Amino acid sequence: MFELNGKVAIVTGAGQGIGREIALQLAASGAKVALIDVSDKIFDVLEEIKGRGGDGLAIKCDVSSWDDAHKAVGQVLEKYGRIDILVNNAGIAPFKPLAVMSEQDWDKVLDINLKGVFNFTRAVLPKMIEQRYGKIISISSAIGSVVGFPNAAHYAASKAGIAGFTRALALEVAQYGINVNSIAPGPIETPALQSLGKEALEQLKHAIPLGRLGKPEDVANLVLFLASDKSSFITGQNIIIDGGYTLP
Ligand SMILES: NC(=O)c1ccc[n+]([C@@H]2O[C@H](COP(=O)([O-])OP(=O)(O)OC[C@H]3O[C@@H](n4cnc5c(N)ncnc54)[C@H](O)[C@@H]3O)[C@@H](O)[C@H]2O)c1
Repeated sequence: MFELNGKVAIVTGAGQGIGREIALQLAASGAKVALIDVSDKIFDVLEEIKGRGGDGLAIKCDVSSWDDAHKAVGQVLEKYGRIDILVNNAGIAPFKPLAVMSEQDWDKVLDINLKGVFNFTRAVLPKMIEQRYGKIISISSAIGSVVGFPNAAHYAASKAGIAGFTRALALEVAQYGINVNSIAPGPIETPALQSLGKEALEQLKHAIPLGRLGKPEDVANLVLFLASDKSSFITGQNIIIDGGYTLP
């Protein structure tokens, strides 16, 4: 649907769930895709991409590490010479009441979910500025950026942080032709969500006006639009994709 031939993309957290689907769809649209994850599953995703005639590379990397992020971006630049699209997707969602949350619990979520976005964006930005072109898309969440949710103060803070980061950076880099947006999904059927258990998933489904949970493809379709030049007049936005979950 969207033409991305010749574009180079980085997708963090590409080993499973939403990130995996984003990577597969970007590759299917012609982009060369660098898959970033702490999990070995990226090597299977890369095989899948190559099996369908696509191109990419897989780099094991913890997004919360400044050094790892800069090394990974260096590897992508060495192989492809440019970076057109960054999808900051890696994230964790461990639920815990604030009254028993440790400093380590807080730091881990903020380090991966928010500092990870800073690390990768900071690492790609000089090249995007030089190119006078770039699309930065970060996966926030309806939780935090739109609505509250119990036992998720650290997660909500990290995801609201992404929306604020997006607005600020969009203003900073608009002059270089770089679009910066975030996406706020409601409940999406992925391994992370499935860990909530069958009963909780049924309850969530009933809370969604469109009557179903989201699919990774729903989010990937929006990423593709934001990664393409069809969305070139959109920047600084946090776009909700939730089947109406946050409307009532
Ligand atoms: N599933 C949902 O309902 C939902 C809703 C709103 C937002 N989100 C967000 O979408 C993104 C993807 O979620 P998902 O449901 O596909 O999750 P998931 O757990 O299924 O997949 C996340 C991937 O990120 C990787 N990852 C975790 N920590 C990492 C790190 N430090 N460095 C590199 N990679 C790391 C994991 O190994 C995994 O492959 C997350 O940011 C999540 O917060 C998900």
